[in-house]
Amino acid sequence: MKRRQIAAIDVGTSKICTVMADTENGDLRILGVGVVASRGMQKGMVVNLNEAKEAIRESVSMAERTAGYKLKSALIGVTGKHINSKNNRGVISITRNDHLVRQSDLQRAIDIASSITMPQDRKVLHIIPRNYSVDGQEGVSNPVGMHGFRLDVETHIITAASNSIENLTKCIRAAGVEIDDLVFNPLASAEAALTDEEREKGVILADIGGGTTDIAAFKGNSIYHTSVLPIAGSQVTHDISVGLGIPFEMADDIKQRYSSVIPGECNDASFVESGHTFSYPDLCEIVRMRVEELLRLTILELPSDDYSKMVPSGLVITGGTANLPGIAELGSEVLRIPVRVGTPPNLFGVSDILNDPACTNVVGMLLWSINNRDASKSHPANEESAKGGFISRMFGNPKN
Ligand SMILES: Nc1ncnc2c1ncn2[C@@H]1O[C@H](COP(=O)(O)OP(=O)(O)OP(=O)(O)O)[C@@H](O)[C@H]1O
Ligand SMILES: [Mg+2]
Repeated sequence: MKRRQIAAIDVGTSKICTVMADTENGDLRILGVGVVASRGMQKGMVVNLNEAKEAIRESVSMAERTAGYKLKSALIGVTGKHINSKNNRGVISITRNDHLVRQSDLQRAIDIASSITMPQDRKVLHIIPRNYSVDGQEGVSNPVGMHGFRLDVETHIITAASNSIENLTKCIRAAGVEIDDLVFNPLASAEAALTDEEREKGVILADIGGGTTDIAAFKGNSIYHTSVLPIAGSQVTHDISVGLGIPFEMADDIKQRYSSVIPGECNDASFVESGHTFSYPDLCEIVRMRVEELLRLTILELPSDDYSKMVPSGLVITGGTANLPGIAELGSEVLRIPVRVGTPPNLFGVSDILNDPACTNVVGMLLWSINNRDASKSHPANEESAKGGFISRMFGNPKN
């Protein structure tokens, strides 16, 4: 297979990250990375088109300089509390004489499962077939060729507010980049941070960024829940800013340099910053309280009270806030499930800067693109996705 170029842009609330790469036979080589502080974004959504466009342009130029070629098109990450999801079922009869399930039957079943009524101001972002059953036999991953009279498919459908998507795509195009696909952030982060075993047993992923916490839960190797909480690292910073009476930027700097939630880490010491003396215990207590609340809210998103049974593999935390020392220990103490920090896998090329939980999402988009292509070969239901993605099919090709 020929090497092909791919790229992804994560337009986050805190940072904008462009990654240019190429890929062959599933491997990934990073050629250029551009990370700049975000502007014009709030809680994952565009609030100032011009500012966001300029910041995106800077990030793209930075990546282009290292890669040595111009970026034409990229995958774009999407988040925000306007995103909703639901599981839906589609059932069809196989009436042909041979009663063998064909590829076209899968598509017919998916189309029925996808026909949800939606207000005009919403668009479908992803339709993910979760699993099939043939004549009541559950858990079939690929029913093509099986004999049956009835085919059921479970799908996970993710929808978004049209105006939020349009604002984001407008900024990307204004920055001179076409859009290959839109990817809901936690799907991408999951691609980079979760193991196959975790997805099989049951796991919840939380990408805790600056403005949003993006959540996805998996079991039996399929996704069954996604959601977005409009609280994340900025709230922690805000609490520090109010609690210690200092400006937001200074609070964010102090948070990143000094705060910790490692149990027993905060002794009575104090530290001096910009001529002010601060107490460690005060800082750590403020951070711990908000992060503890955030972790509890994350797990409450699961559609079951008995969450330890739903997610025996526990919680995987990514996003910039996962850099907070002790966050995994605090999580397992509070939630009583296994908790670990997820980072992108090791990559070839100019990738040092990507070795950070904050970059899980952008790397995950590239892997999502590669894996969806590969999946199309072994999983006929994904054939459409290889031709332009579920999004292009359902949302209308964003390039048009
Ligand atoms: N060492 C650290 N300790 C605590 N928080 C940290 C640390 N390093 C980074 N952060 C926080 O991570 C957040 C940024 O994370 P990230 O880069 O994943 O956000 P984003 O992708 O731009 O935003 P979003 O996904 O919410 O739109 C900021 O709130 C920042 O303060
Ligand atoms: Mg993010």
